[in-house]
Amino acid sequence: MKRVCMVGTGYVGLVTGTCLAEVGNKVICVDKDESKISTLKAGKIPIYEPGLEPLVRKNSKAGRLSFSTSVADAVRASEIVFIAVNTPPQKDGGADLSFVEACTREVARAANKYTLLVEKSTVPVKTGERIRKTLEVLSQSKSFVEVASNPEFLREGTAVNDFLNPDRIIIGVQSKKAEAMMRDLYKKIKAPIIVTDINSAELIKHASNSFLAMKISYINAIAQICEKVGADVEKVAEGMGYDKRIGRSFLNAGIGYGGSCFPKDVSAFIKISEEVGYDFKILKGAAAVNEDQKSHVLKTLKEALWTFKDKTIGILGLSFKPETDDLRNAPAIDFIQTLLDEQAQVKAYDPVAMEKMKQLFPTVEYCDSPYKAAQKADALLIATEWKEFSQLDLKRIKKIMNTNIIIDGRNIFDPTAMKKMGFTYHCIGRSPKAFEN
Ligand code: UGA
Repeated sequence: MKRVCMVGTGYVGLVTGTCLAEVGNKVICVDKDESKISTLKAGKIPIYEPGLEPLVRKNSKAGRLSFSTSVADAVRASEIVFIAVNTPPQKDGGADLSFVEACTREVARAANKYTLLVEKSTVPVKTGERIRKTLEVLSQSKSFVEVASNPEFLREGTAVNDFLNPDRIIIGVQSKKAEAMMRDLYKKIKAPIIVTDINSAELIKHASNSFLAMKISYINAIAQICEKVGADVEKVAEGMGYDKRIGRSFLNAGIGYGGSCFPKDVSAFIKISEEVGYDFKILKGAAAVNEDQKSHVLKTLKEALWTFKDKTIGILGLSFKPETDDLRNAPAIDFIQTLLDEQAQVKAYDPVAMEKMKQLFPTVEYCDSPYKAAQKADALLIATEWKEFSQLDLKRIKKIMNTNIIIDGRNIFDPTAMKKMGFTYHCIGRSPKAFEN
């Protein structure tokens, strides 16, 4: 059992802190935001993440998880302190590390004994070196704060399971002592542990997210070619995926990757590579393809409608992916913005993300069912593959829409079946079969 302090109760901090408590550690999650901390103390969570709330309650009740607004108290009560604060993108694409720096300072000042300070936030390579230098300057003589890196690979929507059943655990350390502490922290989790230097650990995170982003852009590029030649991207992905060296996952063509991680991490990786003297052309290509993909969907919609002015567009799905209410870099935001700019009426439905979208776009009509969003719509745009959309009563949808146009940015329906039902159906990299096999 380790005594742990988690600085930052955003998405990563809250999931990591709660799950570390679940595997037997004693965790204090700290945040400056008092209302967030009182919400958490009351057993409620400020984000939508399946399975997390019951774990927060269970571990709080068991005395393994607590919440505080005082970094200093929590640091003094802990052996391991995680930095899980925001690293938002800057205008130049680089990561803003000011919260990481501030957290480092606070921990250095508060520590009164040996403390392991672990980067959990996604940071560019060489951040650990900067933290170490800052610690050297600030650490008090009676304390020694050592830095380590332990990147996270959680996906929103499945974060609890990803934490408890990870593919691997990466530990970037400078000493055997730090390695032993980190191994002890994770001893109840069965997964390969890769121990490395801190620079490599930081690179593993950026390299992994960027690789997955490239995989998505690759299949989206293939999808564009499929559209031009009448091939089926789902079949191409299936055929590629059986090759164990390639694998089928993250080869789902769609409207481009979004979320709080891939767009930000790809930009930050391009930027840090530039700073260390490498022009990361392949990653720049992946980012450009991702932007194209969003425009491609809007272009298809426009082609189907001719103009957007005075048209009613129903949007199904707002979050950047299913099982989350996270709207950060959600393609639906770009879609709504363009449609409103071009004077379309927008109706929208999402099972959990509408409240957040209301704050960004108050003039959109938010509907309490997908059918209400489709009612009298001139076109329906599917932007998130929530499971309930694939179970829609399409006959009913067809009856209530003004036209029969569906733009499916997530390939949830079969184009041949949709054509048979009489829809003008456009999806990504697939067209109706010219003949039945
Ligand atoms: C991603 C990584 O998958 C996690 O391993 C990582 O820990 C996390 O970022 C992070 O750095 O914090 P996440 O952003 O939650 O997780 O979501 P993903 O499931 O990876 O999806 C990212 C985007 O790619 C979504 O917009 C999704 O719709 C899109 N995507 C994903 C596709 O378009 N096609 C695919 O085949 C897979």
